[in-house]
Amino acid sequence: MFSSPLLPTSYFLLPIFGHPFHPMTVHFPIAFYLLGVLLTLAYLWRGRADYEQFAYWSFTLSWLAALVASLTGLVDQNQLELADPRRENVNSHITAGVALLILNGLLLYLRFRWPDVLTSRRWPYLGLMLLGTIAVLATAWLGADLVYRWRVGIL
Ligand code: HEM
Repeated sequence: MFSSPLLPTSYFLLPIFGHPFHPMTVHFPIAFYLLGVLLTLAYLWRGRADYEQFAYWSFTLSWLAALVASLTGLVDQNQLELADPRRENVNSHITAGVALLILNGLLLYLRFRWPDVLTSRRWPYLGLMLLGTIAVLATAWLGADLVYRWRVGIL
């Protein structure tokens, strides 16, 4: 465990008055992705076309929000010195985040390419959605680990 991991200079590398910016952006991809999953399941259960339409929008917003969160995360990771061993933990977090971007992107592509994807390619689509769910939960878990276990971003 690192007692006081951040040098005073690191403070000035954090973007908004010394506060990490990334945590302000991370809730959106998580919430929109999980909302998309719930709406898809609701559509499969009730068969209402508007649920499926809202799920598509929700996955679109989650992908855009994951992109924004990734950019702010890349800025925030500069608070760590290059030799800081916690960069390894950040890398695991990044791997999960990139997996999320790819899986969420594939969902969007499939839905855009085949608007009836939930009928014509139901199981591959739902399988991707499940993998994306694992990726979003893993990204969030590893991110929280960075803060609450390894004290990244805590001054
Ligand atoms: C290239 C991509 C990413 C990088 C480099 C990155 C980096 C970081 C860093 C350095 C932290 C520590 C807190 C801070 O200093 O800001 C963190 C925390 C966190 N990250 Fe990421 N991140 C990335 C993508 C994502 C994405 C896409 C999500 C959401 C789906 C996410 C969710 C989180 C969460 C939930 C935390 C904990 C925040 C808290 O509890 O305060 N990250 N990340």
